[in-house]
Amino acid sequence: MIDERLIEREQKALMPNYRRQPVQFVRGEGAGLFDPDGRRYIDCVAGISMINVGHSHPAVVAAIQEQAARLINVSNLFYTEQMIALAEWIRDNSMGGRVFFCNSGTEAVEAALKLCRKHGQGRPEVVALVDSFHGRTYGALTLTGQPGKQDAFRPLLPGVVHVDRQDMEGLHAAVGPRTAAVFMEIVQGESGVHPTPPEMLRLARELCDRHGALLVFDEIQTGLARTGPTFAYRDLGIAPDVMTMAKSLGGGVPIGAITARPGIDATFQPGDHGSTFAGGPLACAAGLAATAVLADPALQAHVREEGARFLDGLRGLVADGLATEARGRGLMCGLDLPQARAADLVSAMLARGILVNATGPRTIRFLPPLVIGREDLDAVLAALRETIPALTA
Ligand SMILES: Cc1ncc(COP(=O)(O)O)c(C=O)c1O
Repeated sequence: MIDERLIEREQKALMPNYRRQPVQFVRGEGAGLFDPDGRRYIDCVAGISMINVGHSHPAVVAAIQEQAARLINVSNLFYTEQMIALAEWIRDNSMGGRVFFCNSGTEAVEAALKLCRKHGQGRPEVVALVDSFHGRTYGALTLTGQPGKQDAFRPLLPGVVHVDRQDMEGLHAAVGPRTAAVFMEIVQGESGVHPTPPEMLRLARELCDRHGALLVFDEIQTGLARTGPTFAYRDLGIAPDVMTMAKSLGGGVPIGAITARPGIDATFQPGDHGSTFAGGPLACAAGLAATAVLADPALQAHVREEGARFLDGLRGLVADGLATEARGRGLMCGLDLPQARAADLVSAMLARGILVNATGPRTIRFLPPLVIGREDLDAVLAALRETIPALTA
């Protein structure tokens, strides 16, 4: 699967902040990744929900090639058309407001945080959820409700209050006139695919309206058809004031964005925020190609249908005592094992040519490219059924 010499070179050249799986990839196509020997792996990670369109989608490849040959970037000192077209797409497919571009998820969260702080005119508090994940830069890390990711880096930003995702009373107590914003994921991805209860999301909407705070939905992982609809909030019947997105927006090319509803989408004025690379023609051309693929109703129907079928299969594992809980929305699923053997399961699946990801000692997450076919999903279920008993034997 991998030449040991590559691992040695990696250890001498890269800071040791990642635990990589022992496999090298040289090519991708759809839901398949290929190692240097040409072995195909079924990808149920999709670059952590970055490759929703599938690997090397021909429309994305063509857009990148064509744009790279003409103009790669010019900074935000000048006009380019691709940026405006992608912002129009986001505006017209979400809350109808204007857009700010950045280069990653964590940058989108920082932008949202700054927008909310400015809008809040000195309101000192921001509310987020326990077990959330919003990114690794200081603002986003402070919002992230996981002390294990924060402790080595204290002190963090002041004023962030965390509430459990089931704790409606806690949310009532936390949101008030001192609150600038409430940040929530529709489904908490990094913690192991835990949907935030819809009544909690609705209560957040109500409390934000009552107290003049802004509701921010972080759709960096759920966005762009991962759960079925273009944005996951669209299934809820409520909308946020601000939304973050990144990951799958560029079909694999780094890009992030926030959008805010009309009325607050001019909070940033010249000089308030910016980024040299952001919204460049190459990333936005890739984004225009990727969003055209992901907004296709046929693809979104496929996500709902195959996601429901796959989740049924995972529930079958629970019914047969091989797992303790299965959760999911669309093609975003999590499976809890009876024992803390998730890392071993990841290795065993890799040996069978299937890529999955452990989000915790007992939890496996499935985020395949959305174009994945039924045959591959069935192969994943069959492999789980065979592999899990071998782990516990
Ligand atoms: C919900 C959510 N927000 C923010 C981020 C951070 O995104 P990035 O890794 O692009 O900075 C992630 C990444 O997993 C995420 O899932």
